[in-house]
Amino acid sequence: MKHTFVLPLLAAIFALPQTHGAADPRVEFRECPKCDKRIRIDLKAGKAYVNLSRLDGVDKDAMAKRAASLLDDAAIPPAADMKLRPLMGWSSWNVFGCDISEEIILDTARAIATNGLKAAGYTYVNIDDGFFWGHGEDGRLRFHPQRFPNGMKPTVDGIHALGLKAGIYSDAGKDTCGSMWGGSSEGGKDKGGLGGGLYGHDAEDCQLHFNELGFDFIKVDYCGGRALKLDEKQRYTEIAEAIKATGRTDVRLNLCRWAFPGTWAADIAESWRTTKDIRANWRSVRDIIAENLYLNAYAKPGHYNDMDMLEVGQRSGKVKSAFGKHGDTGLTADEETTHFGIWCMLSSPLLIGCDVNAMPEFTKTLVTNPYLLGMNQNDLGLQGEVVVRDGDAVILAKDAKTKFGTSRFVTLYNGTDGEYEFLVRAKDLCLGGRIDAFDLVEMADVGMFKDEIHVKVAPHASKFYRFDAETRLERRLYQAESAYLTAYQELHNPLKAGTAFPDKANGASNSYLVKNLGGRPDNDIIWHDVAIATEGLRCLTIGYRSVDEGVFFLSIDGGEAVGVKVSPSGEKTAEVTVLARLSAGCHSIRLFNASAKMPDIDFLHIEPGLNNLD
Ligand code: GLA
Repeated sequence: MKHTFVLPLLAAIFALPQTHGAADPRVEFRECPKCDKRIRIDLKAGKAYVNLSRLDGVDKDAMAKRAASLLDDAAIPPAADMKLRPLMGWSSWNVFGCDISEEIILDTARAIATNGLKAAGYTYVNIDDGFFWGHGEDGRLRFHPQRFPNGMKPTVDGIHALGLKAGIYSDAGKDTCGSMWGGSSEGGKDKGGLGGGLYGHDAEDCQLHFNELGFDFIKVDYCGGRALKLDEKQRYTEIAEAIKATGRTDVRLNLCRWAFPGTWAADIAESWRTTKDIRANWRSVRDIIAENLYLNAYAKPGHYNDMDMLEVGQRSGKVKSAFGKHGDTGLTADEETTHFGIWCMLSSPLLIGCDVNAMPEFTKTLVTNPYLLGMNQNDLGLQGEVVVRDGDAVILAKDAKTKFGTSRFVTLYNGTDGEYEFLVRAKDLCLGGRIDAFDLVEMADVGMFKDEIHVKVAPHASKFYRFDAETRLERRLYQAESAYLTAYQELHNPLKAGTAFPDKANGASNSYLVKNLGGRPDNDIIWHDVAIATEGLRCLTIGYRSVDEGVFFLSIDGGEAVGVKVSPSGEKTAEVTVLARLSAGCHSIRLFNASAKMPDIDFLHIEPGLNNLD
């Protein structure tokens, strides 16, 4: 049977009076045969309403229990260490550019502390470019005399007094981005940023920011670093060392090099910008999403891909930004929901970029939605992984409550310009049995399905679900483009640098494969988190493409390597199978060739081995 969530648009509010109460006083039963929701959460009222007309064969007490637990899930569990979660807060750049001041920052901080944003977890108030006035002859960093006439201390103290954290900004080189590219209403370049960067001042600037002034975060940009042709890894490591030398262990570091810098970034920073600057328009949001789809393997608790500051609250036709001239046409409601939801799903830091004093109600509801935030703020630290992709229509998934558990976050992202009908298959999500679907944006349980479901999604819109299934299935298919490439980087041409990269390929599984592997020990591909349900023989089938005969090595959990020979495949993906006995639990499977080029890799497929060999 073809199931579908797309029902005629009916009132979500259950119109009929309560019939009788459930055991939990927060849960009420209602009858509404015309309603398309099975359970509706009303956070303001602290209630969950169960629709008795839509129990889908489930006992009403069991449904009441589900309703109560969905209500409980609105409370995001506190982190053992906040540093392990993506940063949440506000940043001055998108809306004010360099036109910042003590007054603007403190005004914003007061609004955040009182308008519900702080309560939702937005705690960092980050000052971006525009506060500099170069370094003095004594080597001390100076602050803009008009924008921050009292220096930075009153600003930092004012932010802290509100129970918030304070963030600052610098550049790895001598001059800041604003001093090169502008960004203030005065027009032209922001001259205060000349000589304002960290270069030559690491120790004294870090001492000033973190010990004297008490900042808690720093974003380090690279316009000045690039101008001096500095080596990113070396330079950012020096800066991380200088921060460490202050004795502060709670300072959070963001690298801003506008491309995935390399897997070394996770050794020194909490987050790293992966793309060029965001703009308040759909094209920019769509391109940033596309560029982050295959970076999931590099995110882990405390270390995240930064998709840039949020352009929420910038509704089409009503954009307030320091960059009005640069195509900031704003976002529609659907686009804004996609933007925020995908940033949550991909575990990006969440830094609101609009004027919070003029934030539309729609935006406030969106960015404080605890169910969306729960995708971002949890202890698993996972970035959603592409499960099925058809151009800009993508199904993403990641575990919700426990790793390899029966609850998964599932996103249907329609980045195309037309309506798209998704076919969501339970087995692609490794889920089995009956699946209950909770819509995170609607805050409603929208029903159950088995095996598969069709969902229509409007252009530029997305659906964000949590699927709670009866069983979790052992995963069969692991795409190469979602795997960990130890040498992966986007700073240099990978063909010249000899580093692997995911690339589009006609006819490949999900249309992507990984090219340019091998030739050096670290230019490998690893599937971490290969979960095996029960011990036994497995056929590990590797999909590859190779013009010539070739060889690569396969090693499981760092164990002895097995050589795998491949024949030429032509333009199509060919397969080669290796048998291995795997214990129950989590494994890592690595393919490499330290001395010669490897075939391109399309996927790894894992099936139980033949019984008679078991
Ligand atoms: C760069 C960064 C932006 C912002 C500006 C400030 O462009 O990528 O996020 O910090 O510099 O000048």
